[in-house]
Amino acid sequence: MKILVTGCIGFIGYHLCHKLLENSKNKIFGIDNINNYYDVNLKKNRLQQLKKFDNFIFKKIDISNNVSLSNNFKKNKYDIVINLAAQAGVRYSIENPKIYFQSNLEGFFNIIENSRIFKIKHLIHASTSSVYGDTKKYPTKETDNTDNPLSFYAATKKSNEVMAYSYSNIYKLPITILRFFTVYGPYGRPDMSLYKFTESIIKNKPINLFNNGDHVRDFTYISDVIQGITKIIYLKPKQKIPYQIFNVSSNNPKSLKFFIKEIEKNCNKVSTKKLLKLQKGDVHKTHGSNTKLKNYSNFKPQVKVSEGINKFVKWFNKFYKDNHI
Ligand SMILES: NC(=O)c1ccc[n+]([C@@H]2O[C@H](COP(=O)([O-])OP(=O)(O)OC[C@H]3O[C@@H](n4cnc5c(N)ncnc54)[C@H](O)[C@@H]3O)[C@@H](O)[C@H]2O)c1
Repeated sequence: MKILVTGCIGFIGYHLCHKLLENSKNKIFGIDNINNYYDVNLKKNRLQQLKKFDNFIFKKIDISNNVSLSNNFKKNKYDIVINLAAQAGVRYSIENPKIYFQSNLEGFFNIIENSRIFKIKHLIHASTSSVYGDTKKYPTKETDNTDNPLSFYAATKKSNEVMAYSYSNIYKLPITILRFFTVYGPYGRPDMSLYKFTESIIKNKPINLFNNGDHVRDFTYISDVIQGITKIIYLKPKQKIPYQIFNVSSNNPKSLKFFIKEIEKNCNKVSTKKLLKLQKGDVHKTHGSNTKLKNYSNFKPQVKVSEGINKFVKWFNKFYKDNHI
């Protein structure tokens, strides 16, 4: 199977490629524009590790550049495309909405259009729990309303979902949308809470707590997310309109305060906190039902938050010691 993973040296892309490359029968093509939204050294480090596999082929491409992207599709004749390339992050979409338009809307259009032209057997696309907005009903189900995104990031992801539906309807392109819920773990993103809190605690700096820390998140450990993606790859939708959506969540929400206590335990330090107002665009709580994915694919999240944080802090300490940061 020839599989394209876009955003291959991002947090989730790196772990996904690593898992897929362990099966030497897979040929994995990775593309990424290696942008500097966060520490490029972290991305380069992930790339170095993937390059150790003979069945990995990397190309630096921006998905919003359709000339390079369509040439790449034409040359490689992919069976499956997993689109993880996007401008991620809710807060940055307040400062820089245009980059979300380029990568998440223009870039996504290029991905579905090339998938149609080159007859991709199954396109899998990363969406987000943010599409549920400020709902009051939990756990959120795939059929719940997603018409009121609070941030432009969420708006681009919701737009992807409806664009994809129309392509499945008209062109019968098999598409699966996966809505991820706060993914965390080793090699995680420096703009996300676990990374920022751990770094501040270790460096004896105060942690910034938006909404006075009164947030609840359905934290989902990276290996569980990879389990969800890999289970779905060969289970393409077969309905008349071959389109499906799944939450990929642990269905085990935790308060941010609990999360911080676990980090403190693992760092052997107590944090100092700077309390801030609710950030525009942020939702108060996420909690996703994963029943649909469980029933469809035998998905079983395995990693508890305490175990996941322990693994992250161990990785963080080693990675930053090795890289003298
Ligand atoms: N991590 C989470 O908790 C989470 C939650 C919900 C949804 N998601 C979605 O999952 C996907 C992967 O997220 P992640 O956490 O690995 O983020 P990430 O930022 O670590 O990875 C995204 C990768 O895509 C690349 N990229 C960005 N724009 C590109 C472009 N125009 N062309 C080519 N490459 C581009 C980046 O360089 C990066 O390496 C994203 O679509 C994100 O929106 C993530």
